[in-house]
Amino acid sequence: MPQQVRGVIARSQQAPVELTDIVIPDPGPGEVVVDIAACGVCHTDLTYREGGINDEFPFLLGHEAAGTVDSVGEGVESVRPGDFVILNWRAVCGRCRACRRGRPQYCFDTFNASQKMTLTDGTELTPALGIGAFADKTLVHAGQCTKVDPAADPAVAGLLGCGVMAGLGAAVNTGAVGRGDSVAVIGCGGVGDAAIAGARLAGAGTIIAVDRDTRKLDWARELGATHTVNASDSDAVAAIAELTGGFGADVVIDAVGRPETWKQAFYARDLAGTVVLVGVPTPDMRLEMPLLDFFSRGGALKSSWYGDCLPERDFPMLIDLYLQGRLPLEKFVTERITLDDVEKAFHTMHSGEVLRSVVIL
Ligand SMILES: NC(=O)c1ccc[n+]([C@@H]2O[C@H](COP(=O)([O-])OP(=O)(O)OC[C@H]3O[C@@H](n4cnc5c(N)ncnc54)[C@H](O)[C@@H]3O)[C@@H](O)[C@H]2O)c1
Ligand SMILES: [Zn+2]
Ligand SMILES: [Zn+2]
Repeated sequence: MPQQVRGVIARSQQAPVELTDIVIPDPGPGEVVVDIAACGVCHTDLTYREGGINDEFPFLLGHEAAGTVDSVGEGVESVRPGDFVILNWRAVCGRCRACRRGRPQYCFDTFNASQKMTLTDGTELTPALGIGAFADKTLVHAGQCTKVDPAADPAVAGLLGCGVMAGLGAAVNTGAVGRGDSVAVIGCGGVGDAAIAGARLAGAGTIIAVDRDTRKLDWARELGATHTVNASDSDAVAAIAELTGGFGADVVIDAVGRPETWKQAFYARDLAGTVVLVGVPTPDMRLEMPLLDFFSRGGALKSSWYGDCLPERDFPMLIDLYLQGRLPLEKFVTERITLDDVEKAFHTMHSGEVLRSVVIL
C-alpha cells in the first residue's frame, strides 16, 4: 500500500517551501522505503529552491539524512527492515566507464529509485539529489542506503550523507592530506570545518582556517584548526605564507567556490602543492590568470565531488571513529528543528549563525 506522509516541497523559485502531504509508493525491485529520523539543511536544498540546479519543480527537498529501513523491494539483499542507514547520492553502478576503470568514486551513472514519489493529486516530485528526505519517509535505491552502527545519533550520522563527507573527503581523499602536512582551508562553514576535521584526522601538522566571520573561526578551532585568519581584515595569502615559514601550505582547500577564493588558494600554496576546490561556483563565474603561473608553480589543481567518497567504505568507518571519540561530528549540529522550520533554516544558514540546522523527525 502506498503511504501518505508529510514532506517539504518547493513548488517554484519565488515561493517559500511548503509542508504538504506526499505519496510514497511501495518499494519496487531494488528500491527501499526509509523512515527518516533526521535530515540536515544544506546549501544545495536552497539552490534547488532557487532554480539553480534545474527547473524540474516541484522538488522534494532534503538529502543529508539518516533513518531506519521501513520496507524493501524485490531483490534487495544489502539492507533489511529495521536497519539503521545513512542515505547517499553515490550508489555506484559498477558498469559505467569510471567504474570499469576502477574509479567508482567518479561513477557517472549512479542509481536512484525508478518510481516517483508524488503529491496527493499525482503530480510527480523531483527528490533533491535523488533523495528527498525532509519527509517522514522517502523512496530510494537500495545502493543509496549505507548501514552504520545504530549507536550513532541520527542527527549527526545524517550529515555524513552530504556536506560533512564532502569536506572531510576533500582533505582526506581528494587532497590526500598526510601526516605532518600543512593545510589551509578557505571558508569554514560545515564543509570547510569538515575539511579541517579531516586534516586533523589525517595527521596534518599546521591547519589554517580562513573565514570572514569570527564565529566560524572559533568553531574551526574546536574542530582542529591550529591557526585562524580573518579574511575581512587581513590578506589570506600573506597570512598563510607567514604561518608556513614563508612558503605556503602543502594543501589548500577552497570551501567557498568563488574566483577570488580559488585564486587565494592557488597563491597560498607551496610549490608543487595541491589546490582542492570543493565549494561550488555559479555558471557566471570566470577566472583570468597568467598561464605561466600554472606551469611554474607545478602541483595539482583538483575538484572534489562529494569528497571522492565511497559511502560503503567511508560512512561506517567515519561513524566508528566518531563513536570512539576520535572525530567530533556532533559539533556540526548547531540546532535541531522541525519540518515546519526549513524555510527559516535557509535564512539562518545565510546569516552564518549555524554550521548545520538539522530537522528531527
Ligand atoms: N563538492 C561537493 O560535493 C559539495 C557538497 C556539499 C556542499 N558543497 C559546497 O561547499 C560550499 C560550502 O558549503 P557550506 O555548507 O560550508 O556553506 P556555508 O555557507 O555554511 O559556508 C561558507 C563559509 O565561507 C565563508 N566565506 C564566504 N566568502 C568568503 C571569503 N571571501 N573568504 C573567506 N571566507 C568566506 C562564510 O563566512 C562561511 O563561513 C558551498 O559552495 C556548497 O555548495 C560542495
Ligand atoms: Zn558507475
Ligand atoms: Zn548537500
